Amino acid sequence: MNRVQIVEVGPRDGLQNEARTLSHEARLRFIEHLVHSGLKRIEVGAFVSPQWVPQMAGSEELIRTLYGKPPAARFSALVPNVRGMEDALRTPIPEVAIFGACTETFSRKNINCSIAESIERFQAVTKLAKAHKRIVRGYLSVALGCPFEGAVSEQKVIALTVAFLKMGVHEVSIGDTIGVATPKQVRSLLTKLKRKVPLHKIAMHLHDTRGTALANVLASLDLGVRVFDSSFGGLGGCPYADGASGNLATEDLIYMLHGMGFKTGVDLDKLLKFSLQIESEIARKLPSRLAAAGLPKVAQKRHKGPYA
Ligand code: HMG
Ligand code: MG
Repeated sequence: MNRVQIVEVGPRDGLQNEARTLSHEARLRFIEHLVHSGLKRIEVGAFVSPQWVPQMAGSEELIRTLYGKPPAARFSALVPNVRGMEDALRTPIPEVAIFGACTETFSRKNINCSIAESIERFQAVTKLAKAHKRIVRGYLSVALGCPFEGAVSEQKVIALTVAFLKMGVHEVSIGDTIGVATPKQVRSLLTKLKRKVPLHKIAMHLHDTRGTALANVLASLDLGVRVFDSSFGGLGGCPYADGASGNLATEDLIYMLHGMGFKTGVDLDKLLKFSLQIESEIARKLPSRLAAAGLPKVAQKRHKGPYA
């Protein structure tokens, strides 16, 4: 299968970690540009505590505005608990994402509860979401290494993935939250995971902190994964994981995928046109390699609309 789905997480994972909080209008412009470039799945916000992540405050209003006209993409948002789900239900958002962790310390630091407590909360969230015909995605953070506990057991990741799917989550996104994984490790985890769950239910969420994200995408592609999370410009990280800066940049990922003959539906040329605008809004240079170097002339046709 030569089609790859990209889940663009820049407006959530990206912006949640920026020192500057973007205005409602700036967030809207950013998301509209992503849609206009052909991205079909976009995580646009989070129903979390504004005390914990002030950058995501106002997600409810943002989502209502986005659904003021029929959307050309599927939007989703993070939901940590029933309170967040109730807030999400006041909007037409069709997909929410629960987010758990593979270590106890990270779970406490990120959502202030143990893994067992988080599973109970997520069961309630999933039940409520389903009763209102919303689909649920699940994240498993620090699946390939934890900033507090170090190495993470593959069996733990597999058990939690199975638990999420049993709960009715349609897809589990395996997070290398602090960008420590290397391809050998990714291959080992996915080979074992594949024996227990169908890989079309797995996405990879790779941070590029140490420059290994694209190599890890290649390892995942070889094993059959076809859904990848990435963030425009390489924006992002996790405020509760020191050193989690740098999501895999969407444009770097797409450049590699198109060059390999995979289709994404994204017009890379169009996508790149927003780089300067977002740099001026966040007041720093984007880490994306393609944003810095631009598309080489020879590749320009390949990355436009119908060829993408
Ligand atoms: P808590 O303080 O334990 O919550 O936070 P609580 O139940 O004790 O309630 C305390 C107050 O918060 C109450 O208000 C609640 O109503 C309110 P008060 O009575 O004091 O006025 N509250 C809420 N407000 C808004 N939205 C809510 C909500 N829930 C309670 N949903 C909580 C628990 C989960 C809320 C908090 O820990 C939190 O918001 N954490 C979010 C952390 C976060 O967003 N992290 C970043 C995203 S995860 C990530 O980036 C990783 C990922 O990218 C994958 C990867 O890279 O691995 C997904
Ligand atoms: Mg992340």
